[in-house]
Amino acid sequence: MLQFDILATDPASHARRGALTLNHGVVQTPIFMPVGTYGTVKGVMPRSLEEMGAQIILGNTFHLWMRPGLDVMQGFGGLHAFEQWGKPILTDSGGFQVWSLGAMRRITEEGVHFASPVNGDKLFMSPEVSMQIQTVLDSDIAMQLDECTPFETDGHVTTEAEARKSMEMSLRWARRSQDEFARLANPNALFGIVQGGMFEHLRQESLEALVAMDFPGYAVGGVSVGEPKDEMLRIMAHTPHRLPAHKPRYLMGVGTPEDLVEGVACGVDMFDCVMPTRNARNGTIFTRHGELKLRNARHKADPQPLDATCTCHACAGASGVPWAEGGREGFSRAYLHHLDRCGEMLGPMLTTVHNLHYYLNLMREVREALDAGRFGEFRQQFKTDRARGV
Ligand code: GUN
Ligand code: ZN
Repeated sequence: MLQFDILATDPASHARRGALTLNHGVVQTPIFMPVGTYGTVKGVMPRSLEEMGAQIILGNTFHLWMRPGLDVMQGFGGLHAFEQWGKPILTDSGGFQVWSLGAMRRITEEGVHFASPVNGDKLFMSPEVSMQIQTVLDSDIAMQLDECTPFETDGHVTTEAEARKSMEMSLRWARRSQDEFARLANPNALFGIVQGGMFEHLRQESLEALVAMDFPGYAVGGVSVGEPKDEMLRIMAHTPHRLPAHKPRYLMGVGTPEDLVEGVACGVDMFDCVMPTRNARNGTIFTRHGELKLRNARHKADPQPLDATCTCHACAGASGVPWAEGGREGFSRAYLHHLDRCGEMLGPMLTTVHNLHYYLNLMREVREALDAGRFGEFRQQFKTDRARGV
């Protein structure tokens, strides 16, 4: 089940405002999807995710297959009941994660052979196995198994011939993923993934072949894989808007707040990235006026919240009234700095709430701007605000 309705478009860019209906609910796009690799968005209760406006979260086929394993997941009837999240879930196929194992794995036409990082067992992940796992997980959106073409390996930059070979295998895996998904009668949606490295003509070939296979949605993969920033932006500007206009487009593993806003202008509907959650845990805070380093000694006695305009629980407390509007309930920078120094659990919990709220709220503002026909102005103002500095 997947239905995608376009509600508004921006005449000056490729940006669109949409509603994506999945088996566990409707997702308003453009959207940021918090990452919950092991069946948890680290340190955040599902009710807090809902409070922050999360509409869909990620899970990972590879990690959940390793632990707790398929028999346990089967017993719960899927990931939603297991992790107590009733809204939509998207699972990555495992291709990217298995690839990240480096020397621990061997990729063949059949699939990926590797040693379990948990107990050393010899394991095999094929497109068929990935679809079987994602069917047990009952994720609303499953991803094809692909080979994420690296930008470089041990200093060797991937050549066109290597990128082509990899992209063509991902296309064969797309077909096998689709066949197995159908055979399993999985009631959810399967997305194809465009590869092709940094080569626009390979990206074009990949997307045309995938479009001919008629997936209900498409992802752009193989970015944020160690390439220079301008290369990522070049692929982001090239590929998404060439995908079918009436289907959802997902840019995998991207990115900074600026990347998201520019990605929307390039026609992307869905994003995921570990940046807000991972950075929260090491004290990098996203704000309307740029990044704040919580570990800096200058925050030691600062009574201000992380972001005076933010309505998250960390910045505005239970009232939800931001400091800029006279609310005085939020946790101070001094307190969060203190929690970090003491290694207290509450520290990363609160900073994660704030960073995720920032990303989710940014996308809400993008949607409102698109609805109101003022995305261009929003894009300009956003850049100015972010460049101001905290
Ligand atoms: N996550 C980030 N990039 C990729 C990719 O290219 N493929 C998959 N499967 N997941 C990703
Ligand atoms: Zn906040």
